[in-house]
Amino acid sequence: MRLHGKRALVTGGSDGIGLAIAEAFLREGADVLIVGRDAGKLATARDALASEVKGGAAVETLSADLATGAGIDATVARVKASGQLLDILVNNAGVAYLVSFETVSEAQFQHSFALNVTAAFFLTQRLLPHFGAGASIINISSYFANKMIPNRPSSLYSLSKGALNSLTKSLAFELGPRGIRVNAIAPGTIDTAMRRKSIENLPAAAQDELKAHVERSYPLGRIGRTGDLAGIAVHLASDEAAWTSGGVFAIDGGYTAG
Ligand SMILES: NC(=O)c1ccc[n+]([C@@H]2O[C@H](COP(=O)([O-])OP(=O)(O)OC[C@H]3O[C@@H](n4cnc5c(N)ncnc54)[C@H](OP(=O)(O)O)[C@@H]3O)[C@@H](O)[C@H]2O)c1
Repeated sequence: MRLHGKRALVTGGSDGIGLAIAEAFLREGADVLIVGRDAGKLATARDALASEVKGGAAVETLSADLATGAGIDATVARVKASGQLLDILVNNAGVAYLVSFETVSEAQFQHSFALNVTAAFFLTQRLLPHFGAGASIINISSYFANKMIPNRPSSLYSLSKGALNSLTKSLAFELGPRGIRVNAIAPGTIDTAMRRKSIENLPAAAQDELKAHVERSYPLGRIGRTGDLAGIAVHLASDEAAWTSGGVFAIDGGYTAG
């Protein structure tokens, strides 16, 4: 087991990409704390994950809104109260407002930055005293930081993920001397609730156009499944990646190669 004896925190671990990463970590022997807002979703995820628990590892849940200072406080307090050091932090919880530049509201802007940027920034900062030797931080970014899609307005989302990539690189530089590694995974489109929600309100023609775009643009011919990110997440979290820091790894079926 590649993560035996390690403790991990996965934000947004009750669904989608975060849930798949939590599952992979448990399979590799890590203790995992998943954080999300909805207590019901967390309970369902915990039950599903319990079957992956290996050799004394444990799965715990915490209901907290990481777009708020109180949510960050509660998460830090939980880690502190455990009395154990943290080896892996996955800043995964995020929100995607794919709305045109001229219609972005201030509330959408604030929420997007609060979750996609501020939470990753301050959760990492506040957890610094609680990281064990050789800790690994993994930020879940997006191809949208650098690559746009026709008719999918992404100024706000792209800006927030671009900021997360900059944070990844600057923290790799600043925290490297403490032995802390910081990397990001930039997924292509992954079939999750977030993705389904972002397309369900599009007119039928736009949905057809998007489908054709995927078929044209993904060299491997399909969008991703949550499990497609598990391998790299385990690798980056493990000691195999002891000399890997500051990377933004595109896991996107070849999408951004073109
Ligand atoms: N899906 C894609 O195509 C795609 C592509 C590239 C990058 N990404 C990135 O991958 C990450 C995960 O996306 P996903 O598609 O897996 O999303 P998802 O299926 O909607 O899951 C989001 C998770 O985050 C939690 N969450 C949402 N808001 C939260 C908050 N304020 N505080 C705490 N937890 C919160 C959700 O639980 P609650 O709702 O109960 O809080 C859920 O567990 C995001 O950062 C996203 O930008 C996604």
